[in-house]
Amino acid sequence: MKYIIFNWKSYLNGKESFSLAKSLNKLKFSKKYKIIISPSSYSLFALKNNFKKIELSSQNFDTLGSGGYTSFLPIENLSNFSIKYSLIGHSEVRKYRNENDLIVKSKLILANEYKINPIICIGEDFKTYKNNKTKSYIKNQIKKIFNKQIKYQNLFIAYEPLWSIGSGLVPSNQEIIKIIEYIRFLLKDYSFKKLKILYGGSVNSSNFEELNEIKELDGFLVGSASIKKSFIKIFCN
Ligand code: PGA
Repeated sequence: MKYIIFNWKSYLNGKESFSLAKSLNKLKFSKKYKIIISPSSYSLFALKNNFKKIELSSQNFDTLGSGGYTSFLPIENLSNFSIKYSLIGHSEVRKYRNENDLIVKSKLILANEYKINPIICIGEDFKTYKNNKTKSYIKNQIKKIFNKQIKYQNLFIAYEPLWSIGSGLVPSNQEIIKIIEYIRFLLKDYSFKKLKILYGGSVNSSNFEELNEIKELDGFLVGSASIKKSFIKIFCN
């Protein structure tokens, strides 16, 4: 079974998210896929309360707990509402909210404590890719994010090259396989229950079939295509 995470980013307003979730709730997805919707924070809890069948992921949470922290989303709200997944370190959060690998590291520890399945986003920029430095970049990110003393629960790593997100550019299957195998190799030194590796970056209805041939992958993290009917129907019976 492959995991398909629909990252709705902030594409849809509250009404539109509700209406798309309503139609998804009526669909019968193939048993080959596990669909997880990651709506914006302003829709997450409304969808949780209204659509019991839909599996949800948060797009983020904050490291501060309950208290005088205006505008924050403490992680306990995710577990209180039985939201089982959260993206951590998405490139847009890194870019626009200055999230770095140290913050990702502390979020991962929190996710582990609260038994939220973390979907950790990593990946190199275009210059690093062009200079053939992807492996050392990924190695460094993993070293900064993971701690050998911690026993992690289920881990999801989304390999998302920054240059591929929203650009229409996608690495070749061979390139993706090489990095996925390398990530598995690097993570051998750490302790976790289960490891799932996803690919993300410009996945759409035209390239899905080819990308889905990659046996080494456990699924995909999909942005803009995930709100399109033509893409969603790939996963239906
Ligand atoms: P994209 O985004 O599919 O629109 O490239 C992927 C992501 O940012 O997770």
